[in-house]
Amino acid sequence: MAGFNVAREADLSIGEMKQVQAGQTAILLVRLEDGFHAVGALCSHYEAPLAAGALCNDRVICPWHHACFSVRSGEQLDPPGLDGIPVYPVRVVNGEVWVEIPEQPAKIFPSGRNSKDSRSCVVMGGGCAGAYAVEALRANGFGGQVIWITGEEFPPVDRPLLSKGFLSGEASEQWIPLRDPGFYSARDIEVRRESWVTHLDAGKRTVLLDDGHTLNYDTAILATGAVARSLPVPGVELEGIFNLHSLDDSKKLRDAVKSASKAVVVGAGFIGMEVAQSLRKHQLEVTVIGPEAIPFERVLGPEIGELVRGLHEENGVLFRLGHTISAFEGDGKVQQVRLDDDSVLEADLVVVGIGVRPATDFIVGVERQADGSLMVDATMKVTDDLYAVGDLARFPDWRTGKLIRVEHWRVAAQHGRIAGANVAGKDHSYRGVPYFWTRQFGQTLHYIGHAEDWDEIRFNGDPKARKFIAYYLKAGKVHAVAGMEREQELAELEERMRRRGLLEVNSE
Ligand SMILES: Cc1cc2nc3c(=O)[nH]c(=O)nc-3n(C[C@H](O)[C@H](O)[C@H](O)COP(=O)(O)OP(=O)(O)OC[C@H]3O[C@@H](n4cnc5c(N)ncnc54)[C@H](O)[C@@H]3O)c2cc1C
Ligand code: FES
Repeated sequence: MAGFNVAREADLSIGEMKQVQAGQTAILLVRLEDGFHAVGALCSHYEAPLAAGALCNDRVICPWHHACFSVRSGEQLDPPGLDGIPVYPVRVVNGEVWVEIPEQPAKIFPSGRNSKDSRSCVVMGGGCAGAYAVEALRANGFGGQVIWITGEEFPPVDRPLLSKGFLSGEASEQWIPLRDPGFYSARDIEVRRESWVTHLDAGKRTVLLDDGHTLNYDTAILATGAVARSLPVPGVELEGIFNLHSLDDSKKLRDAVKSASKAVVVGAGFIGMEVAQSLRKHQLEVTVIGPEAIPFERVLGPEIGELVRGLHEENGVLFRLGHTISAFEGDGKVQQVRLDDDSVLEADLVVVGIGVRPATDFIVGVERQADGSLMVDATMKVTDDLYAVGDLARFPDWRTGKLIRVEHWRVAAQHGRIAGANVAGKDHSYRGVPYFWTRQFGQTLHYIGHAEDWDEIRFNGDPKARKFIAYYLKAGKVHAVAGMEREQELAELEERMRRRGLLEVNSE
């Protein structure tokens, strides 16, 4: 253990944090009422400097995608990271702050099966929510059998990168797996890779797999996410037309880009716009088509929609908004896209990103909602022995009492963690605040909370300057905020929403 003098006591007031250096190790030094605390300076997700985030009592919130860590224990309190951050002993001697750095990082001894635990849990779906669920089962002491049916994806992938850095060529394939396969075997998680659930009978507690095997379970966690909607128009089966959900989809698209020059993106939602920017990075001519007049208008309002559109236009993206597709045309391979006004665009590559629907077609014995989602309570339970998490779950927003379904990475991770912990015997409820990010042409837009509609959007800062916070108000309360280039304040706002629910307008 080596000791480093990293600061003077007077350098920090109570409630302040600062990044300091202890030899080769970057430290986040924090001063609370009870003294100094030292943790790793970088977020365990993508290594953002935590000092640029927000310190709220003993929680530090990452500025980039709002992971939250305890500055006392280093524990990750909220995803999207997977691990905690290191914690270091600190002492103050004669007004000088000293941090101890161990020669070797502490060893982790993962918990696996316990022969006295006869329970079984089947987790269906190898995406975000499934991955967090299996980890949470073991982390919370579940010693029974864990069977994880992962579909085509194992190890689980960092899906948000698939439309951004991976597709644009900026992120290597090494960044894509969330974990090494050995992580799961060390925890005795039985992975059924390349295996699909074809039938789930919630009444009988049985799962049928595509290889003909039947599994019985005590408890199951359903995390099969959502599948991309297809476009019901002639020619949709032509070569050169893609959806984007899995790593395989993104790889195929990356390959197709090499021999393409004119791309059409159908859908001006988050996936469509991220794909458009990634295809521009490959120098393709890109046209985005969608029925709306302004991208994101329904979700974020016209000002932010115009901002995003302007950002894309500056970078050469073309738009044909206010239109739908009537057909794709070509001789085996797509060559043209015909619009509803009978105009035609040349295209040798098309990406369809028009939304998703919950992947729940194979379930019997529980009620599915009109959109295919499953209704859960705050503990993520559908019934006593079935949990549903992630994109397919319709869950109560504790701030409004309304049932909502959101397609956000961090929410899926939070759901998975809660379900895994509860199956293990805990009693956790969803008390988070939905959070979403999108990154386009170097700008990150953050969205916190949930507002399906609003009476007014109030701006602090100027969306035209791409530095602002937007408050979505309904009946005088802030239901959601969106913002750019104001990361620290946005992280603080999320923390306020987490503690107080809907915020009073005048208090912000
Ligand atoms: C390209 C892309 C980019 C995104 N970017 C962002 C972003 O920047 N920020 C953000 O907040 N959110 C983003 N999202 C949304 C986010 O990824 C999802 O909300 C999140 O992945 C949902 O997690 P999930 O576990 O519910 O579903 P998924 O991650 O979709 O996982 C479901 C898994 O279940 C498998 N499966 C389906 N049916 C079966 C079956 N019958 N049997 C076995 N397995 C099955 C699927 O193959 C898949 O592996 C993005 C989504 C996509 C597709
Ligand atoms: S880098 Fe910290 S949450 Fe992503």
